[in-house]
Amino acid sequence: MASSLFVRKSVADCEADVERRGGLKRSLNKWHLTALGVGATIGAGIFATTGTAIVGDALRPGAGPAIVFSFLLTAVACGFAALCYAEFAAMVPISGSAYTYAYASIGEFVAWIIGWDLIIEYAVGNIGVAIGWAGYFRELLGHFGLSVPAWLATDYRTAHAAFTTLGANPTDPLQQYIASAWSNAPHIFGLPIIINLPAFLVVAAITVILVIGIKESADSNNAMVLLKIGIILFFIAVGIFLIRPHNWNDPAAGGFAPNGFPGISAAAAIIFFSYIGFDAVSTAAEEAKNPAKDMPFGIIMSLVVCTVLYIAISVVMTGMAPWKSLGTAEPMITALQYASGPPALLKASRLIVSLGAVVAMGSVLLVFQLGQPRIFFSMARDGLLPPVMARIHPRFKTPYVGTILTGIFVAVFSAFANIAEVVDLTNIGTLFAFVLVSAGVIFLRRLEPDRPRPFRVPWVPLTPIISIVACVYLMCQLPGITWIRFAVWLVIGLVFYFAYGYRHSVHRKVMAARAATAASSE
Ligand code: ALA
Repeated sequence: MASSLFVRKSVADCEADVERRGGLKRSLNKWHLTALGVGATIGAGIFATTGTAIVGDALRPGAGPAIVFSFLLTAVACGFAALCYAEFAAMVPISGSAYTYAYASIGEFVAWIIGWDLIIEYAVGNIGVAIGWAGYFRELLGHFGLSVPAWLATDYRTAHAAFTTLGANPTDPLQQYIASAWSNAPHIFGLPIIINLPAFLVVAAITVILVIGIKESADSNNAMVLLKIGIILFFIAVGIFLIRPHNWNDPAAGGFAPNGFPGISAAAAIIFFSYIGFDAVSTAAEEAKNPAKDMPFGIIMSLVVCTVLYIAISVVMTGMAPWKSLGTAEPMITALQYASGPPALLKASRLIVSLGAVVAMGSVLLVFQLGQPRIFFSMARDGLLPPVMARIHPRFKTPYVGTILTGIFVAVFSAFANIAEVVDLTNIGTLFAFVLVSAGVIFLRRLEPDRPRPFRVPWVPLTPIISIVACVYLMCQLPGITWIRFAVWLVIGLVFYFAYGYRHSVHRKVMAARAATAASSE
């Protein structure tokens, strides 16, 4: 059984599969691919989770103004992993990303683990994005004189934490609002009812759009990316004039790196969330005009663009306001609230940034809600998930069952979950996928040394090993409870694999038939 667990779907078999079902149209150039990566990457990570990374929470210290080093640290770790993704994406230019790479290199069992793990990256990640979206949406409504009662716009634990710590920050309007969820919530059987309705509704709306079918085009993605970059540049341009250098190095607030390297690395593990998405470029491998050259370019360039923007934002944000004030789920808005400058400019900037953030996070939601059912689709086609997941709607021609199930899962959890917990789980799961892809590069170099590799990771096995060590290091910065949740998730996946996937694997049947034919012809 052990050897059959590691049955590999060779690169040639993967290519034959594409041939059979007909590949996709190859229309994307290297800049389209870069735009795809940037579009999938810039979202709740930079707009929402940076606050916790700067200030810290009950489980870990924050980086303070030294957050800029956290962004650099994570960029370096992602850079090594990006090289590994690039080697695979150029060599196996087939959609399916890490799941397909693992099937081709380490074998089915690890491919299953990655596929299961990608649910954490895509679906659980999107719970975090939906919650981040809801925060900025609430701010946006406020500019039009509209408000949602707090008990319908946050989660139970955030409300409780805001309520219990209100005494330390009694004049902060956002904290007052969130704390009011706890005091004003209706009760059923003595329990306060607190749900994040906007987060639930945005996921529901996106699910309906995706079931009906959306004609995604490279042009509309390019427009979205320009808008995202435009909003970020706008924030930087306004913020640069509001910087008070004292905020970067206030001795009373602990100086530049108030919690030293432990704070910087704990923050690096949180803001890893803001980098997730450059790997999504690999899902478009079948649509790339010249995958051999353009996939590595798209993956690495989108990482570079995001890193430069993130570093600029973090420098400006921590210069605009005392870092201790930034620990909210809308830190860019908070920075504009605490900065001193012309009130009209600050108010208009808050409106523009919240509008941009809502659109930016909406597009990440769309990309990942679209991606998850397609991963289910690949796994169901390989027999590792029930065939219903590959069922196509007769009229809309979309994988509607997977889309609806993903929608229900993400919508329900985003109504109740706490963003920090969701982000931690997403990060550990995605870092683990990066570890497996990096290991896959080493394996496939040994197993198929002669296969043409249009892009070769330099210094193998050193580079993939550095990638593995860096990702495991970041995983170790995440709280113990996150490891427990991740372990539980993997165990559920293993049960599912042995109860279903192992017995229904199409590729194992193909291999068994080939072995039988070879034996009978001897
Ligand atoms: N990187 C994506 C975001 O920050 C997941 O929203």
